[in-house]
Amino acid sequence: MSRGKKNIDPEVSLLLKRIAKSQVESGLKEMVISRVNIKRKREKLITPGQKVQPVVGFSSPDEHCRAISECQKCSLGATRTKFVYGVGKAKADILFIGEAPGRDEDLKGEPFVGRAGQLLDKILAAIKFTRGEIYIANILKCRPPSNRDPLPEEIQTCLPYLMEQIRIINPKIICALGRISAQTLLQTTTPIGKLRKQWHNYNGIPFIITYHPAALLRFESYKKDCWEDMKMLRAKYDELKSKKIIWP
Ligand code: URA
Repeated sequence: MSRGKKNIDPEVSLLLKRIAKSQVESGLKEMVISRVNIKRKREKLITPGQKVQPVVGFSSPDEHCRAISECQKCSLGATRTKFVYGVGKAKADILFIGEAPGRDEDLKGEPFVGRAGQLLDKILAAIKFTRGEIYIANILKCRPPSNRDPLPEEIQTCLPYLMEQIRIINPKIICALGRISAQTLLQTTTPIGKLRKQWHNYNGIPFIITYHPAALLRFESYKKDCWEDMKMLRAKYDELKSKKIIWP
């Protein structure tokens, strides 16, 4: 006998229709439930009013700065005057990394603008660089109250910003200014005196360490050591240029 439509018992046909309808309905229900779940998960990740920005993948320091400058990930967000992202050439060959903004930097929103910054400008001039040719950033983007040392949790929270900054700038040489910067980037507790006078490797980038300009202001005798470090830095820059790793 033919199994054509016409020969199906009307009751069976009705039953089949009901089954199909309930399958469609339960499918729709599942779709609605999974949409609600996705929305709830999103809401958990995003608190109301929060700007949602990816942490990585920016194409310029300016774009990155705009995305993170309202940061409130640690308590320094509440006490800062200005977020101090960094300053200099977007694709600089040399990146100097200090510790954290001080009072002057917090007011101006730019790193190394106080007395230590003026000395840094002189150090740069001595090795024939200007601020506009290099890049200057800090481990922390916000000032710790009373210029206290950064807390480990503040460093941990802020460090991804510096990592992304390094990726964007893509420097050929990095110079740490002071103990906090050196020990943070090398993940060590070795005293700065033992870390100087040698080239380290920071994720494939030649990395040198010198005293913080503020330390030079306090201890005159460190200036000679800093000068030795800066001569090493200049020599490495000239070497990389002669090998065309750095382009004129
Ligand atoms: N000291 C730092 O380490 N960074 C600054 O920006 C200013 C002072």
